[in-house]
Amino acid sequence: MSRLRIFEEEHPDAPVLTTSDQAEMARELARIGVGFEQWQATQTIAPGASPDEVMAAYRSDIDRLVQERGFTTVDVVSIAPDHPNRGEMRSKFLDEHFHKEDEVRFFVAGSGLFTLHVNGKVYEIKCEQGDLIAVPDSTPHWFDMGPEPNFVAIRFFTEPEGWVGHFTGTDIARKFPRYEPGHGD
Ligand SMILES: [Fe+2]
Repeated sequence: MSRLRIFEEEHPDAPVLTTSDQAEMARELARIGVGFEQWQATQTIAPGASPDEVMAAYRSDIDRLVQERGFTTVDVVSIAPDHPNRGEMRSKFLDEHFHKEDEVRFFVAGSGLFTLHVNGKVYEIKCEQGDLIAVPDSTPHWFDMGPEPNFVAIRFFTEPEGWVGHFTGTDIARKFPRYEPGHGD
């Protein structure tokens, strides 16, 4: 189940709010400019489906978002738990960073943990199948796909070549929970 936990940045052990209510999650995240929506597939996506087949199942939502936000590129990324480079891929965005464009991801399948650092608070969002998250540009955050990553996601870009992580050099991400699906999550 999707879940939002909000912490004071000084207290990684004691969330001040925990909710799996998607409407409440969307409300809390909207306060800090973060988009959070649920999309329904309009057709069945078979295992091993091509990116075009995946996108066809969400065509109207994709088109709406592209219209609203001016994205130029949409792609599909798929990572299985036995991926040979999973450790390297996981480690890439585990520390606090930001981008100079929005980070927008729709989870077609599987899950991942986004954690945002805004105004002295830390927002931990477990995204599951059917969730769209839109993190505004310049928002410090980190992303953990877990030790056995398992997700298919649609990604939206305005400048795919410009989508690089600018690392803040803080250690805050190491003080907050990592994503360990199956261990109490
Ligand atoms: Fe990022």
